[in-house]
Amino acid sequence: MKEVKTLGQFIIEKQADFPYAKGELSRLLRDIGIAAKIVNREVNKAGLVDILGGTGNGNTQGEQQQKLDVYANEQFISALKHGGECCIVASEENEDILYLDTGVSKNASYIVAIDPLDGSSNIDVNIAVGTIFSICRKRSSARATLDDVLQKGTMQVAAGYIIYGSSTMLVYTTGKGVNGFTLDPSIGEFCLSHPNMQIPENGNIYAINEGNYVHFPDGVKKFIKYCQTEDPTSNRPYISRYTGSMVADIHRTLIKGGIFIYPVTAAYPKGKLRLLYECNPMSLIVEQAGGRATNGCRRILELEPETLHQRTAIFIGSTELVLTAELMTTAAE
Ligand code: AHG
Ligand code: MN
Ligand code: MN
Ligand code: MN
Repeated sequence: MKEVKTLGQFIIEKQADFPYAKGELSRLLRDIGIAAKIVNREVNKAGLVDILGGTGNGNTQGEQQQKLDVYANEQFISALKHGGECCIVASEENEDILYLDTGVSKNASYIVAIDPLDGSSNIDVNIAVGTIFSICRKRSSARATLDDVLQKGTMQVAAGYIIYGSSTMLVYTTGKGVNGFTLDPSIGEFCLSHPNMQIPENGNIYAINEGNYVHFPDGVKKFIKYCQTEDPTSNRPYISRYTGSMVADIHRTLIKGGIFIYPVTAAYPKGKLRLLYECNPMSLIVEQAGGRATNGCRRILELEPETLHQRTAIFIGSTELVLTAELMTTAAE
């Protein structure tokens, strides 16, 4: 019988890696895991409860907010609020940061940036969606402020995502490799299923919304043509896969290799994906698994955040492929 190691057991086992942490980060990861199980329960029966479709409101991003966006946001914020380890949460679904540093969280030292439900356009059509989270320690000695949230990606102490797909997985890193846990509904526990995840150095799957082709920079157009050109010696033409859920596209890239690109477009001249709670956490995970993540020329984790919902272009995946795409992008400029 295969040994079952739960997320909780794994976190406690790895706690020894963090002499300074007196268990706070462990408890914070546990709180996120609990909220993920609650959200998973609603995602899994979404068609049976009134949780599909839009709320009829727009969110701060100018998007049509989905009921599951709101539900997931409420569940993660509530878990963080009652867990006692998070002093500020920055959510895609909230225009401003939320202060949680009262009551049990009065002396909390962690900042959480979160995309509570990633891939909202896929909720009603049963395609995988996810949650993405990024954790930093507050820097200021006094009460945490927005400045403690606007930290570079290299300052993250942990990052992870949950993918609500054919199975539900939680994948995270604390800077010492990437580990994946699959939810076993029969015992309600995330169990270690993908220890020490490593992204293939190269790959033949490219993920980009080619509907925006006419608005792509020339270098990106050149890279797409490169992917589509017959060359058996370099396993081309590549395979095109794009789901519209960043978590699903990057999870597949992490396991099978390849590249995910969301470049600048006419609709999103600075890129669409948000730095703090989409690109930074996914970039830390992919780098920790041996891959590469840039905005086409600069490392995502080095980008200086200036505003909460700041967007960036992102080229992320197998190192060889990202370097090839970068070369074409910069050469065309
Ligand atoms: P969210 O649902 O959290 O707003 O994120 C959606 C993002 C990301 O998940 C996905 O990769 C991208 O939007 C898809 O954008 P397009 O539909 O423009 O391709
Ligand atoms: Mn998202
Ligand atoms: Mn979202
Ligand atoms: Mn959204």
